[in-house]
Amino acid sequence: MQDLDDLLASNVNWAESIKAEDPDFFTRLAEQQTPEYLWIGCSDSRVPATQISGMVPGEMFVHRNIANCVVHTDLNCLSVIFYAIQVLKVKHIIVTGHYGCGGVRAATESTRYGLADHWIRNIRDVYNRRRDELNKIEDHDERVNRLCELNVEQQVANVAHIPAVQHVWQNGGELSIHGLIYGISDGLLKRVTQPITGLQDIAEEYHVLGSVSG
Ligand code: CO
Repeated sequence: MQDLDDLLASNVNWAESIKAEDPDFFTRLAEQQTPEYLWIGCSDSRVPATQISGMVPGEMFVHRNIANCVVHTDLNCLSVIFYAIQVLKVKHIIVTGHYGCGGVRAATESTRYGLADHWIRNIRDVYNRRRDELNKIEDHDERVNRLCELNVEQQVANVAHIPAVQHVWQNGGELSIHGLIYGISDGLLKRVTQPITGLQDIAEEYHVLGSVSG
């Protein structure tokens, strides 16, 4: 336990500084959360969702994994998305990648990592689909960074292809899906994709419509 002393002391300082500015902050937050945003980002320690977007606790629902993937058989990610849209009724789902992502870089190399290789396979598929464009980029770092952008594009599409997401639009609900990328070296977020706001933005072969629950 001793090695967590710094972390715990830092937590006390943080809580006290918030209370000094807004004495009711925590009691108000304890009653409910009403975030408008669901953030799907990378687990990388340099990309803390709430902090880099200038939000405070309570404003953003967050899911993070290696290289911000949305995999249509991942019960964890799907549960977060379902809860966010059906219960919290978030208005925006934001998939955020970052330049220099280690998970994306791994997909451009042949080093074996073990279990994570199965996860990284999702990004290898993105690489393979866009290989004509990517292989023209000679500089490896630049190629990795372009794949970081293309990966965001693919994961945004994967969110839009979830039937429960389409169900929100089918019922007239308001929901936008965005793709952003974060520059670790300048601290800035920028758009990678245009917002997807309805079924008209999705290829027809991915339309899954109807009224069954779930
Ligand atoms: Co990353």
